[in-house]
Amino acid sequence: MLKILVVIGTRPEAIKMAPVILSLKKQKKLICEVCVTAQHRDMLDQVLTFFQIKPDYDLNIMTGNQQLNTITAKILSALDEIYQQCKPDLVLVHGDTNTSFAAALAAFYRKIKIGHIEAGMRTGNLQLPFPEEGNRVLTTQISNYHFAPTKENVAHLKRSGVKTKNIIKTGNTVIDSLLLTSKKVKSFTSAITDSRLTDIIQSKKKIILVTGHRRENLGNPLAQICDALLQIANKFPETTIIYPVHPNPNVNKPVYAALNNTPNIILTHPLDYPDFVLLMKHAYILLTDSGGIQEEGPSLGKPVLVLREITERPEALKAGTVKLVGTKSKNIVQHVSALVTSKTAYQKMSLKINPYGDGNAAARITKWIKANAQILKKTT
Ligand code: UD1
Ligand code: UDP
Repeated sequence: MLKILVVIGTRPEAIKMAPVILSLKKQKKLICEVCVTAQHRDMLDQVLTFFQIKPDYDLNIMTGNQQLNTITAKILSALDEIYQQCKPDLVLVHGDTNTSFAAALAAFYRKIKIGHIEAGMRTGNLQLPFPEEGNRVLTTQISNYHFAPTKENVAHLKRSGVKTKNIIKTGNTVIDSLLLTSKKVKSFTSAITDSRLTDIIQSKKKIILVTGHRRENLGNPLAQICDALLQIANKFPETTIIYPVHPNPNVNKPVYAALNNTPNIILTHPLDYPDFVLLMKHAYILLTDSGGIQEEGPSLGKPVLVLREITERPEALKAGTVKLVGTKSKNIVQHVSALVTSKTAYQKMSLKINPYGDGNAAARITKWIKANAQILKKTT
């Protein structure tokens, strides 16, 4: 029987691989096991609990303020043992984290076939986002099968020299997760336990939902983002800014130091996925440097202002529902102000569009794997 090992490490990988894992586990003619590197710990466990996924292997590598080389080195050596024990025919990795690249590299060295999900995103700039652009370029080069969300991603893969027959266009599994979660979670009170959040939602104030954590935004860009949030909070006291803060001390410390105890800014710990989905649905604007939120926002009809100079997800930019605003405080304040004060500007950006997926990406991935089980079973 075909044996698949799914390797994930961070919150977004878990959110985006959950539908794939759940779908593969339902198949009678294949075995699907899950290994978590736990590059993230609490943020990963939150997602696993919600989707009721119990890992078969847990490398438990996370340490506070971890460094890139350490993460990769730890995963490489620990996964090698797991691969020998589990003997998978196919390893599935996702996206562009250190977990994705290290898991792919460890499989490559053991001559295990690699399927790369969310393949083909590119900015063309190895420094932006860092180190994710490098991780995804490298993962492409050593993967055998490439599950690409959009036609733009397919084109990038072809330009990287990947053979057309090894590219499968599937849509992004994040939309599967979003729709699944959205359907499941209807009531706030059961999902949102923080009374500050429940109160704000009931008050019907305009919510500006913020996330920011990227390595290239640490230091001065993050300080500028915080400065912009203070200005926005002062300028529009009728709005509320909600910022679930990433636990990275390089994010957490400066953000709390700059913004804690500001009347209309609520800082919280990272929220469970269903809570965050509910908040996105109630938000007026999403202000973020996240990759996943750029994909989820348009599907929910929410304007997304992206705290980056460049994005690997240009599809919604073209549709006009996502804008790159960078990290300069003046620009951030200007773009948020335009959306808060102009109905026309807001309506233009709040169209419900689905350039990233239709909710059936995991089914397409499963179907392809089942159809190709014999080829996947053969040794390389
Ligand atoms: C990682 C990924 C990034 C992805 C992001 C999603 C890399 C290099 N980066 O970045 O691509 O967008 O996850 O969130 O792969 N921490 C905790 N608890 C947790 C998670 C993190 O305390 O559950 C703290 C720890 O101090 C940890 C630090 O955050 O050392 C940084 O985590 P790390 O995974 O290295 O970086 P992220 O910025 O989360
Ligand atoms: N998210 C969440 N709780 C939060 C903030 C974000 O569940 O408090 C979800 C969000 O909906 C999206 C994903 O986490 O699906 C994005 O993760 P992150 O921003 O950490 O990573 P990136 O998308 O930048 O890789």
